[in-house]
Amino acid sequence: MTTSPVPGPAGARIALPPLAVAERLEVVPRWDEEVAYQSWRPQILAPSTWRPAAPPRVFAVVNQKGGAGKTTSTVELGAALAAAGLRVRLVDADPQEAALTAWLRPQYPGEGERWSLRSVFFDECTLAQATYPTRFEGLDLVPSGLDLARVEYERPIGAEQALAAALAQEVEEPDGPGWDVTIVDSAPSLSLVTVAALTGADEVIVPLKVGGLDMKGMASLHRTIRHVQRKTNPKLRVGAVLLTAWDKSGFARQLAAKVAEDYPEAAVIPVRRSVRAAEAPIAEQPIRLYAPESTAAADYDQAAGLLVAVGGEAR
Ligand SMILES: Nc1ncnc2c1ncn2[C@@H]1O[C@H](COP(=O)(O)OP(=O)(O)OP(=O)(O)O)[C@@H](O)[C@H]1O
Ligand SMILES: [Mg+2]
Repeated sequence: MTTSPVPGPAGARIALPPLAVAERLEVVPRWDEEVAYQSWRPQILAPSTWRPAAPPRVFAVVNQKGGAGKTTSTVELGAALAAAGLRVRLVDADPQEAALTAWLRPQYPGEGERWSLRSVFFDECTLAQATYPTRFEGLDLVPSGLDLARVEYERPIGAEQALAAALAQEVEEPDGPGWDVTIVDSAPSLSLVTVAALTGADEVIVPLKVGGLDMKGMASLHRTIRHVQRKTNPKLRVGAVLLTAWDKSGFARQLAAKVAEDYPEAAVIPVRRSVRAAEAPIAEQPIRLYAPESTAAADYDQAAGLLVAVGGEAR
């Protein structure tokens, strides 16, 4: 296993190449309930009117269940879109041991203040000032550390709206926002920061690990999303439910049917289980670079193309 960063010319960012031809999952408007699960293939469920969204676009990756695949989905969707030539910014909105920040290490300048998402909540800097390049071309990062938890207990004025306001300010800039896509990786809780992410986003992405499902948790996530839609962000839509670490099972299919019912507007996308997914963060690389042949890399690549139009037809 590679544990050291990919070498590149000094100071140069590492390019994220397109994947070699990968097996694509079939996209269907509904699953055939009659097929025995043994012969069932993973399929993407997308409403027949489905179109990828046009950039600029802001996604919040949310599920209060721990280990659902939020951070993995954030990195891989971001890396896939960067590989397609978009300017992508990832936002670490999880104060616990900084998983996203540790995976993609921001490249701080040699001197000066180091801003983070916390600084944005406390109005110390803009979101753009808190954005740093990673080692990967087209992929930038707003880092976080344990001090992001201060937002929860100090509750700065307007915290719920802080991300929405910071993003709106960028749209007002003469050249528009500097990023085509922003993806916010949330903590495993429906905290103030998570609500702020939902309030600032155009779309929610819900990763669900089939084996770790908890129906009560699903119901409270559903309530929170609908609540944000009513109170703070009427434009919010649920873009996709990602069934992470997907394995063929009768339960996987029941789960897929349940989420399709809960979120009829969303695409339901399986991301197949791959051991390489757990190794990539240790190697500090996106899965698509670390293991371009893996099913997880291919499935996230396809999911990214369904969510965001890259020069093609948009919704
Ligand atoms: N497609 C996959 N196949 C196999 N393992 C996966 C897959 N996707 C994610 N995992 C693994 O599942 C674990 C949890 O993933 P991840 O850290 O992305 O979840 P999370 O929702 O961000 O967790 P937390 O709630 O702690 O922030 C990790 O070990 C990750 O490598
Ligand atoms: Mg995480």
